[in-house]
Amino acid sequence: MALTDYMRRGLVASRGGQILAFAAYTNTLDDVIKFTIGEPDFNTPDHIKRAAKQAIDDNHSHYANPVGISGLRQAASDFLAQKYQQHYNPETEIVVTNGVTEGIYDSLMATLNLGDVAVVPTPIFPLYLSDANRLGAEVVQIDTSKTDFKLTPAQLQAVVDQYGDRLRVLVMNYPTNPTGVCYTASELGALAEVVRGLPIFVLCDEIYSELSYDQPHSSLATMIRDQAILLTGVSKAWAMTGYRIGIVCAPAPIAAQIAKIHQMITTSEPTPMQDAAEEAFRYGQDDALPMKAAFEQRRDAMYQDLTKMGFACVKPAGAFYIFAKIPAFLEQDDCKLIYELAEKAGVAVSAGSFFAKGGEGYLRFSYATGLDQIDAGMKRLAAYLQQKQLN
Ligand SMILES: Cc1ncc(COP(=O)(O)O)c(C=O)c1O
Repeated sequence: MALTDYMRRGLVASRGGQILAFAAYTNTLDDVIKFTIGEPDFNTPDHIKRAAKQAIDDNHSHYANPVGISGLRQAASDFLAQKYQQHYNPETEIVVTNGVTEGIYDSLMATLNLGDVAVVPTPIFPLYLSDANRLGAEVVQIDTSKTDFKLTPAQLQAVVDQYGDRLRVLVMNYPTNPTGVCYTASELGALAEVVRGLPIFVLCDEIYSELSYDQPHSSLATMIRDQAILLTGVSKAWAMTGYRIGIVCAPAPIAAQIAKIHQMITTSEPTPMQDAAEEAFRYGQDDALPMKAAFEQRRDAMYQDLTKMGFACVKPAGAFYIFAKIPAFLEQDDCKLIYELAEKAGVAVSAGSFFAKGGEGYLRFSYATGLDQIDAGMKRLAAYLQQKQLN
């Protein structure tokens, strides 16, 4: 008898996090240049580190208010209002979570019932799909690979018409992981019109909002505030992935329900980390600027090199990923090709299929790594490709 047969149905068969699993595999190989993980290579700014240490010295070691310390909620609220005209009452409309990762789970748990439909434009960060699936929802993927990786109003209207009252959640992530695509205000406005007034929650994952290179960041959450659940955090723009602080914002009655789920799962987030995140939002409004400038330079370098090698890619306008179509002369199965590249070319990337429908035949390159690494990795890749073409 295998006790695992009696565990939660679907869990044992599920693949778990493929991005992290493949990245872990490449750690076992010698001399591989990694473009796998979506985490900044920068260190957390010093003033934020000092705030965390100070919090420990000041004995901020008790359970916090489950929705977060008031200073962090206020600082996040001020930051969002100043930077993005997103207005949320820190007392009633903000919940501090264990990264956006937990915020996604809490939001889906709070909104989806068994059999409800969650619509997810793909390719996308895969967590929304596995969370919604585990919660017993039906996940409907809209493949955006033929529409420049952007959800169109017509595509959205089609699923609204098809699923009617069963459609409960629309997930949106912009700038988008894995494509780096950003939406303009008018594109978001047109999507808002399709769902406005319907009983549909729109999950707006804006964790990369500070990393929008070519246009100001626009938000669906300001356009359909009543229906939006806004997710943001400090992981990416302040290089604080290990601090595990996320921010969920929603109209008060919705936030109150999300807060219940959050409290039941974690009680509250670590208090010193909340102090550090408060420091980031309050005094580090422009901390992301030098990192953003560096990311932009890396994007340009990598985009140019990949294009020269024959990878067709949509030039990313935000985040720190390039989604590249595999050239015809290479193995077309992206899940096989990543092993070939890691083992034979010494370059590790993520498979497009990790990011759901429309990702097949693509590779995701993360450029959250130094220019020297990018240069060396691109040279290795170019040499390998050249050798393949000669054979
Ligand atoms: C779109 C998106 N949302 C959320 C997360 C997770 O963020 P956090 O570190 O705040 O949990 C990631 C991390 O890669 C991401 O790409």
